[in-house]
Amino acid sequence: MKRIVILASGSGSNAEEIIHHFKDSNLASVVAILTNKHEAGVLERAARLHIPAFYFNRPAYREDSLLRLLQALEPDLIVLAGFLWKVPEAVVRAFEKRIVNIHPALLPKYGGKGMYGMYVHQAVRDAQEVETGITIHYVNEHYDEGDIIFQARTPVSKEDSAEQIAHKVHELEYAHFPKIIEALLHEQQL
Ligand code: GRF
Repeated sequence: MKRIVILASGSGSNAEEIIHHFKDSNLASVVAILTNKHEAGVLERAARLHIPAFYFNRPAYREDSLLRLLQALEPDLIVLAGFLWKVPEAVVRAFEKRIVNIHPALLPKYGGKGMYGMYVHQAVRDAQEVETGITIHYVNEHYDEGDIIFQARTPVSKEDSAEQIAHKVHELEYAHFPKIIEALLHEQQL
């Protein structure tokens, strides 16, 4: 059985979709959720869904306790689902091509530091883009710059508010992220 570890900083709706997707799977299961926010909604979801959850603070993150925790969890894939800190280099090196992130826009547009959540959707609206979407990519030492694995698109109209754009993007995330994770785990030669 392959092991998925999720890192999340926010509400965790993607995390919940992934947990449900693998609930009865013979391929993989979500073994833990890690968060840097003790008030994150994802913790309530983890408790309700009976997934062990761990909180880490800045010092633990900067030093190598996060790396040791991840190594102890033996993940086949680390999934960033709304995780807002840059992944430390030591973690990237230890889990090369085994960390994936979802970004709520069509990278390389609207990526980088500070481009997260509603900031992304507001920027898409302000630029009067006619489409937006999601990008699933491997994680390297730079924000939102790892190799792209998958993108999906959705139209944006002039009347769409940032909230409406966010809703469309979330729908794409729920439809694709769990399936892409499954495909990646299938492809892994272990
Ligand atoms: C998602 O839109 C994801 O793409 C972005 O942060 C959001 C997290 O939402 N990186 P949730 O916590 O999964 O509800």
